[in-house]
Amino acid sequence: MDARDHSPATGRFPAGRLAFPHRDLTAIGQLQRHEILYLLHEADQWVALNRQSAKHTDLLSGLTIINAFFENSTRTLLSFEIAGKRLGADVVNMHAATSSVKKGETLIDTAITLNAMRADAIVIRHGSSGATGLIADKVDCPVLNAGDGSHEHPTQALLDALTLRHALRERGDGAEDFTGLTIVICGDILHSRVARSNILCLTAMGANVRVCAPPALMPVGIEAMGVEVFHHFDAALEGAEVVMMLRLQSERMSGQFVPSAREYRRLYGLTAARLARAAPGALVMHPGPMNRGVEIDSEVADMAGRSLITRQVEMGVAIRMACLDILTREARGLEGWRA
Ligand code: CP
Repeated sequence: MDARDHSPATGRFPAGRLAFPHRDLTAIGQLQRHEILYLLHEADQWVALNRQSAKHTDLLSGLTIINAFFENSTRTLLSFEIAGKRLGADVVNMHAATSSVKKGETLIDTAITLNAMRADAIVIRHGSSGATGLIADKVDCPVLNAGDGSHEHPTQALLDALTLRHALRERGDGAEDFTGLTIVICGDILHSRVARSNILCLTAMGANVRVCAPPALMPVGIEAMGVEVFHHFDAALEGAEVVMMLRLQSERMSGQFVPSAREYRRLYGLTAARLARAAPGALVMHPGPMNRGVEIDSEVADMAGRSLITRQVEMGVAIRMACLDILTREARGLEGWRA
C-alpha cells in the first residue's frame, strides 16, 4: 500500500500527506484521529498473519530492537518481543532489575548506552511520567512508550481500539470509528496511564466516554478531557455498550485510597448482576493484570461472547507489529516520518 494514498475514513490520507509523520510513539496525545485510524488499519494485516501457522516475515531483517523495561510487565514486554521477532528483527530485552541501573546508572546514561549500540528502535517502560519523552530526546532512533508512570500507555489504547473494532465488526457494525458508542472506564483513574491513553484515543474516535471511580481516585479537572464523571458505578453503567475495568495501582499509591478490597468490590467491582445494568450484550475489557474478585469477578472476566480480555492480548501483538513496522520505515529507506 502506498503510504500517501489514504483517506480519513479508512485511516488513509489524501495524496501528498505523510501517513505517520512522527519519529516516536510516546503518547496518544501526539496523534491525530486519522493517524490512529492509520495504525489500526495497518494492524489488520498483522492480525491475519498472526492467525496463520507460519507467522514470520523478513520485513525488519537486519534491524535491532531493544526493549528496556524499568518496571515489571508480562503482556507488553512479551508482545513487543514477539512482534519484533515475527517481523524478522533481532530483539534484545533489558530488565532494569538485572542491569547496571542497580549500580546507580542514571536513566539518561542508560539511554546513551543503548543508543551507542545502534538500536533501530527502543521500547521503554518506566515508572516516571515523561521518562520516555526524555529518552526520545537523547537517542537517534525511534522510541516507543510501553508505559511511563501514570502518564500514557499508547500501545495499550491502540490495542484496545483494535480489539473493539474487530468485536464490533463481528457483530455486524462495520464502522471505522466509535461515534455514538458509550464506554465506561471504571477503576483507579487517578494513577492509570491506560485510562489516560484510552480517554484520548476513544474520544478522538468519537466515543462517549464515562469515567467512574471513588472521589479519591478521580483526577481533579478530568472533565476537560471530554469525559463524563461518575462516582456511582450503577449510574455509570446505565446503557453503556462497553465496560473497561482497571485495577487499583497499589504500586503508585502512597497512603490508603480505599477502605478495603472488599468494600471496593462492593461499590466498584464488576459482577454479573452489575453488568446486567449495562446495555444488552455489553462488552467487557480489562488491560490486565486483573485482580479477580476485586475490580472484576471471574464470572464476568471469563464470560464467553462478552469478555474481550484475551482478545486484547492477541491484538497487542498485531498493534505492536504495526507500530514497529511504521516507525522503522525511515531506517529501512522507505517513506518514513522525515520524507
Ligand atoms: N496491560 C499491561 O500493560 O500489562 P503488563 O503490565 O503485563 O505489560
